[in-house]
Amino acid sequence: MALKLLSLDMRLVCELELSPLALVFWSILGVRALNNGLARTPTMGWLHWERFMCNLDCQEEPDACISEQLFMQMAELMVSDGWKDAGYEYLCIDDCWMAPQRDSKGRLQADPQRFPSGIKHLANYVHSKGLKLGIYADVGNKTCAGFPGSFGSYDIDAQTFADWGVDLLKFDGCHCDSIVSLENGYRYMSLALNKTGRSIVYSCEWPLYLRPFHKPNYTDIQYYCNHWRNFDDVYDSWESIKSILAWTVINQKEIVEVAGPGSWNDPDMLVIGNFGLSWDQQVTQMALWAIMAAPLLMSNDLRQISSQAKALLQNEDVIAINQDPLGKQGYCFRKEKQVEVWERPLSNLAWAVALRNLQEVGGPYPYTIQVSSLGRGLACNPGCIITQLLPEKVHLGFYEWTLTLKTRINPSGTVLLRLERF
Ligand code: GAL
Repeated sequence: MALKLLSLDMRLVCELELSPLALVFWSILGVRALNNGLARTPTMGWLHWERFMCNLDCQEEPDACISEQLFMQMAELMVSDGWKDAGYEYLCIDDCWMAPQRDSKGRLQADPQRFPSGIKHLANYVHSKGLKLGIYADVGNKTCAGFPGSFGSYDIDAQTFADWGVDLLKFDGCHCDSIVSLENGYRYMSLALNKTGRSIVYSCEWPLYLRPFHKPNYTDIQYYCNHWRNFDDVYDSWESIKSILAWTVINQKEIVEVAGPGSWNDPDMLVIGNFGLSWDQQVTQMALWAIMAAPLLMSNDLRQISSQAKALLQNEDVIAINQDPLGKQGYCFRKEKQVEVWERPLSNLAWAVALRNLQEVGGPYPYTIQVSSLGRGLACNPGCIITQLLPEKVHLGFYEWTLTLKTRINPSGTVLLRLERF
């Protein structure tokens, strides 16, 4: 393994002209980026991007601009409104937090108007609430929104984040000169974070930016990253959620097997509680993100969220599926004209099953399935206890191997089930 690291490091040296000695030293120490002990279950938290984007206008929109006030308010609500108790722990800043220039020592700095107390102060505040702070940077010359990129400054940026007390880094992939610098940059930042000695979850977008050029090597990616985006940015729309699910089904052979404790596929933020999804579509996002063992990073306004959306996001049974310690990602195993059937193996021989109605017309669709076909034929052999968790909790009772399960699934909705083998 040290050899593997050494050869990668030598490539990094060529690319970034950094001290070979330092890299050899890391190899001797046997630094294992992914072996950072973090994200053993999918990361849960809040991330500002989808809901608040790059709103810089604190004059006109003081409550919606990217400022320390926004994050402090969210931190308070994460604790007072039960989000933290439900498992949402990481409060994450996305793009547009930075000042347009680095400081005189070459360090990134927060915009002084919008973050007058600085990120270290914000991290202390977030930690005082028992939460963790995430931040955003970019592997290339600029962030996607045009703020300073980390290319050529990976060490100093990693150290700055560690000094501030940051707990997660979302590392974007805009404005990179070449695929070689993109890949080496992602690897390098992983090592640089590790070298700081601080526990920092490393959230990548490496495969998303690589895919147009060549097939990602997930063994490599999972070695360096705790989770990684594969596909386009989520929007507050049903089309967006459907496109993410469709992409996942098409590519599941490639991506499902690489997921596990410490390394997850990231289908992007939960947009539940915003404007674009109907109730049943929100149920579908929550159910399928649980089946996919996806990071649960909400992007919504916790100051204004319906009690229905809140209950869905805080549903402990669904979160328990997402956070199942076995850490296996689920997959779609049957696709019919109107229904997709997904399943996910859970610890203690239990299974989660999601029945998704692809129809967007008509009423609830009656769907019947043989229980013997679920969980690779194992879930209900010789019998199982089935609980429907979504759209609401219903104890369906004991099912023998020979029985069929009858459900009704709302248009664009999903029925999520938990099967305990008996
Ligand atoms: C995109 C990224 C989004 C968000 C945005 C910020 O590339 O995928 O999640 O971070 O940049 O500019």
